[in-house]
Amino acid sequence: MRIVDLRSDTLTRPTPAMRRAMAEAEVGDDVFGEDPTVNRLEEMAAKRLGKEAALYVASGTMGNLVSLLAHCNRGDEIILGDKSHTFYSEQGGSAAIAGIHSRTLPNQLDGKLALKDIEAAIRPDDIHHPRSHLIVLENTHNRKNGSPLDVAYMRSVRELADQYKLKIHVDGARLFNAAVALGVEARNLVADADSVSFCLSKGLAAPVGSVICGSGDFIVKARRARKLVGGGMRQAGVLAAAGIVALTEMTDRLSEDHANARKLAEGLAALPGLSIDPAMIKTNIVYFETNREDLLEAELVRRLDKQGLKIAAMGPRLLRAVTYYQISDDDIEFALQTFSKILK
Ligand SMILES: Cc1ncc(COP(=O)(O)O)c(C=O)c1O
Repeated sequence: MRIVDLRSDTLTRPTPAMRRAMAEAEVGDDVFGEDPTVNRLEEMAAKRLGKEAALYVASGTMGNLVSLLAHCNRGDEIILGDKSHTFYSEQGGSAAIAGIHSRTLPNQLDGKLALKDIEAAIRPDDIHHPRSHLIVLENTHNRKNGSPLDVAYMRSVRELADQYKLKIHVDGARLFNAAVALGVEARNLVADADSVSFCLSKGLAAPVGSVICGSGDFIVKARRARKLVGGGMRQAGVLAAAGIVALTEMTDRLSEDHANARKLAEGLAALPGLSIDPAMIKTNIVYFETNREDLLEAELVRRLDKQGLKIAAMGPRLLRAVTYYQISDDDIEFALQTFSKILK
């Protein structure tokens, strides 16, 4: 039976070039700083994003947690979106592990935090309050249609952050999707951020890993924090080798995933029983709602699954489909036909 799995771009499998690079990778003990392949990936990532230094970590979740640990002291407050991955989907690690207080603001439809909301949330210097320390932005924004945050918005958040002496961290799990969608270099999207964590293992198709980039001092602290959370890996070059291929060969082709996502969104919009605005879909993530009482999200997922199409239920009536390297134009046709069969 044909299976088309659109639940997430984390389902990407490594390319043949990645598997070769992994098999041939030169390795050493990375906790001693002696894995040449990890070192090469980190140098390459820092250069690509215009930052002084970089650190390879096991996952996007670890990238964000280690960044928070490196930026904040216990009791500091971070300002972040109520739909951000860091707040919503990382087990509250910021509180559980880093002792950080979260101040959530509503994510706008395009994934942004309104500047007036940020400003209103910044604490005065008062003995009763936690200290506002860091703004966390997500680019692209997973739960907000994979929306990309543009350079002008980043600039305006930087101006505000400077006014109140705050830092900015970007959860750039899909930063390269944002760059491709906006037609800018990824480095321009993070020029106004103090740190960024981006994933190699989503649309870029590497099997494992994320990279954090920032100043030299920040990465020294992040390296300590990574060891604290058990993220010091040894001959990690076998993994980093795939990351190097991801960075060199897999970023520009993300436009194909975006075209597939747009095609899927337009096709879904033409079907009865679903709500979606295809104009909101700018990258590889397609959110939509079911209006059918007899086909609420769990039932719709179950019925599609029986026909070989996998999508994700994300909340009451809310569903998500994500395109990625192994999803072809023909798979999108199959997905639309399968939806059509079930909804009619
Ligand atoms: C925006 C965002 N940030 C962080 C992560 C965490 O990445 P990982 O699953 O590698 O921990 C994800 C995962 O989907 C994500 O979508």
